[in-house]
Amino acid sequence: TQVLGIEGTAWNLSAAVFDDDLRSLYSAPYQPPHGGIHPREAAQHHASVMREVIARVLTDPEEIGAVAFSQGPGLGPCLRTVATAARTLALSLGVPLVGVNHCVAHVEIGRWATGCEDPITLYVSGANTQVLGYLNGRYRIFGETLDIGLGNGLDKFARSKDFPHPGGPRIEELARQGTYIDLPYTVKGMDLAFSGLISAAQESSAPLEDACHSLQETAFAMCVEVTERALAQAGKDEVLLVGGVAANARLREMLETMCAERGAELFVPERQFCGDNGAMIAYTGRIMWEAGATIPVEHSRANPHFRADEVEVVWREEPRH
Ligand code: ATP
Ligand code: FE2
Repeated sequence: TQVLGIEGTAWNLSAAVFDDDLRSLYSAPYQPPHGGIHPREAAQHHASVMREVIARVLTDPEEIGAVAFSQGPGLGPCLRTVATAARTLALSLGVPLVGVNHCVAHVEIGRWATGCEDPITLYVSGANTQVLGYLNGRYRIFGETLDIGLGNGLDKFARSKDFPHPGGPRIEELARQGTYIDLPYTVKGMDLAFSGLISAAQESSAPLEDACHSLQETAFAMCVEVTERALAQAGKDEVLLVGGVAANARLREMLETMCAERGAELFVPERQFCGDNGAMIAYTGRIMWEAGATIPVEHSRANPHFRADEVEVVWREEPRH
């Protein structure tokens, strides 16, 4: 039996079909004409390409056993558009709905794509920065950003320097030629804050290469510190890196170094499974559906503030310590 999954929490409307393996995947990313994402415009984009995106992946409608969708967290208008499409489709196919938490789905597709079993996950994307790990039946949030996601922070810095959007790749390129200057490092308990760091980097009078270099070194060191402490607290020995910022070679290198020192192993999925994608919703939807975690239509409301630790992970065997 196949599960159709629809992801659309932010800029990418993407759908996929999973049975024992990935059957199909198609994405229609929204490119804002300029600047950042306007939630309502992104939602209009999703609505306008919904039929095509679903048609591309849905080859055998009679084989579909459930429809999974990204229920949150994300942009309200985008989530509502996706939820409406999922309900309509589930009703017309006569199959149940599975409401998938976007952050949990990043972790699950990462485990599927890399073969790691029980990792501490560093999820760094545009809107999100979180360190997650499985403990007693839930994905606990060990630490997270208190203000903005690191990717959005990098993009903000990049916009102020007139780099093309998204800014991450250009910052990474310039950072290679820079040397270190001091910038504010903010870890509070197990949480992170980036906005002070971003402003300081923007306002720095240092050469641009040095600002890029130091912005990366500081932000990544903060992420690595929290990941390392979560590893120690949870007693785990695998690290999974996901989200768009996972594309950064320096971040991977810093995590590799930390993991080597601790006798842990780093796993990074191939690019198409790192950023937002329909496969992560279809896959997680399938393992949830197999565990009986479907929802009635009355419980299918979009939830912009849906947190990973609200989800009871009924589909995983408890690792015994
Ligand atoms: P989410 O909705 O899960 O927060 P998103 O839609 O904002 O995700 P992703 O596709 O996961 O985003 O990630 C996009 C971010 O990744 C952008 O902010 C971009 O600058 C950043 N990024 C891409 N490549 C690199 C890189 N090489 N180095 C650093 N950051 C990068
Ligand atoms: Fe994401």
